[in-house]
Amino acid sequence: MSDNVKQARIPQWEQELKEQKFSWPVFAFEEVASTMDMARELLLTPPYLVLARRQSHGRGRSGKVWNAPDDALKMTLALPIHDRTKLAEGFSLYVGIVITKILKATINVDLKVKWPNDIFSAAGKKVGGVLIETTSENRLLIGIGLNTISIPTIREATSLYSLTGKTVPESPLLASQIAHALIATYQDFLSEGISKAEWAKVGYGIGKHARVYDGDALKLQGVFQGITEKGEAVFETAHDVTTNIVSGTLRFDCDRDELHEAILHPSG
Ligand code: BTN
Repeated sequence: MSDNVKQARIPQWEQELKEQKFSWPVFAFEEVASTMDMARELLLTPPYLVLARRQSHGRGRSGKVWNAPDDALKMTLALPIHDRTKLAEGFSLYVGIVITKILKATINVDLKVKWPNDIFSAAGKKVGGVLIETTSENRLLIGIGLNTISIPTIREATSLYSLTGKTVPESPLLASQIAHALIATYQDFLSEGISKAEWAKVGYGIGKHARVYDGDALKLQGVFQGITEKGEAVFETAHDVTTNIVSGTLRFDCDRDELHEAILHPSG
């Protein structure tokens, strides 16, 4: 094992995971650069779980910095990849659906999944996010960050506590519930993909006007219709014309009339 893996651990968290009947290897650290990097360095046979109280270089999708308070959940679950072709882009949506179901059952909060990887409150504030990476050793790394109690100082964020006022399960318990559910249903995802009906219950922004960006570049604008089984986002981009998008960032802040005009009377 590398020197990094010898960093200070949190035995209490590791013990709590065992008490939750989490029978796979667990590594809980006081501080790491990123649980994603640590999960890469631990060359174990998946499944295994990495948790941290702090990350000095947490990252989000598209290389964005992910700064989170100490009490926020920061986990990476490693799963095996048997067939890369079955790993659809939509996997982060699937993880989002699993998380929303668990949190509905435990603290009765209605969360939304914003394509392709955000966990949102019903009012559109960010509660957390999912980061999917793969390694050359055929491991799938599922990174999850969730604001449990404190609210990070980014625009438009919230936390589970501020949404519900309820005691939110601590990181080891939450991580155990999420990891158990993902391990138990991973094969179903690989064989069946995402249930469009399940997603429709929690999908954020269906029927709303949106712009899709690739970095800062506008890729497309239209009315967000939902997703395909593969997890592509579907937009009505012109009258009776739909376009599917595999990757990008959705923004729902565009002016409705301006967009309607663009769809009904395209200029070029
Ligand atoms: C996003 O919204 O862009 C995804 C955020 C994912 C953050 C989590 S925190 C645990 C894991 N380690 C990281 O560095 N990132 C993910």
